[in-house]
Amino acid sequence: MSDSKKEDNPLAAVASRYVGAKFYENLTGGWPARIASKVVNNLYRPIGPDSVILDNCCGSGAITTAILELAKDQGFTPAKIHATDLSPGMINDVRELHKDEPALQTATMDAQELKFADNTFSHVICAFGVFFCRDPDVGFQEMYRVARPGSVTVVTSWMTVGWVPVVDYIIQKIRPGQKKFEFPVPPGFERAEWMQAKMTTCGWENVKVREIQDYTQAPNDIGSAIQPILGDALEGWTDEEKQRFTEMFDEAAEACGIEKAPEGWWKIDMVALETTGLKA
Ligand SMILES: C[S@@+](CC[C@H](N)C(=O)[O-])C[C@H]1O[C@@H](n2cnc3c(N)ncnc32)[C@H](O)[C@@H]1O
Repeated sequence: MSDSKKEDNPLAAVASRYVGAKFYENLTGGWPARIASKVVNNLYRPIGPDSVILDNCCGSGAITTAILELAKDQGFTPAKIHATDLSPGMINDVRELHKDEPALQTATMDAQELKFADNTFSHVICAFGVFFCRDPDVGFQEMYRVARPGSVTVVTSWMTVGWVPVVDYIIQKIRPGQKKFEFPVPPGFERAEWMQAKMTTCGWENVKVREIQDYTQAPNDIGSAIQPILGDALEGWTDEEKQRFTEMFDEAAEACGIEKAPEGWWKIDMVALETTGLKA
C-alpha cells in the first residue's frame, strides 16, 4: 500500500474493513455466481489443464468457483488459479470454501500492485472489481502487465445497476435537494465504447463487448444492508433518517417500477458488460 487513502472508494472501504462473503452474497442476491458461470463458459480461449488464471478482485470467489466447477465437469484440474482481493475477509472465506483445491492460491492483494511477474497468466478475469480501485487505470495496466502473450483478459462492468434510482428516490424524499446519488465508479464504465477504448488503449487487441442480462434478488433487509456501500451519500444523516431509509425501500422500489417476483421479493435489473481482450 502506498498511501492511506487507497480504500477511499466506498465499496472498497467497506470490503477492506469488514465485508466477508456472507454480507456480500446476501446483498448481491445471486448474480455473482450466475454471471461468473456465463463468463467462464464463454471465454474466447477456453480454460484447460495448462491454464494459469488470475481471479482479480475475486470477492466471494464466484469466478474461481465457476472455473473449478467447469474443470470438474470436464475432468481436468487447471495448472493454477490465483484468487486475489483487497479484503482479507473475502480472501479468508474463499480459502475456506475451497480449502481442498490444490490448484488454488489465495492472497490479499491490491489490484493496483499485483505481486506477479510480467506475462504470467493465460487468463485474467476481473469481475466488477477494477473500477473500485482508487486509480482504475493503474489496475488495468497491472492486468495487462501480468497477462502473457496469447492470453485472454475479461473485465466486467455494469451497464445497468437497477437499485441506483431506488436509492436516489429515498434520498430525495428524506433529504430533498441532496446531490443525486450515483454509483461510485468512473464515468463511462456503463458504456461499451468506453470499455472498449479503455482496454484497447492499454494494449489489448480484438476487444469485444457483450451484454449479460441479470438481476439482484433483493434480500429482506436490503434497506439497511445497502447503506454501508453508499459512501458519503448518508454522511451526517441521523439514526432516525437512516431508519426511515430502511423503511422506505419498498415504497421506492414500487415508485421506480421494480419488478416484484411472485414470491414477494424485488427483482432488480442488473445488466453487465463483459469486455474481452487478447494480448498479442
Ligand atoms: C463488486 S465486488 C466483485 C467481486 C467478485 N469479482 C464478483 O464478481 O462477485 C468488488 C470486489 O473488489 C474488491 N476490491 C476493491 N478495490 C480493490 C483493490 N484496489 N484491489 C483488489 N480488490 C479490490 C472488493 O474487496 C470486492 O471484493
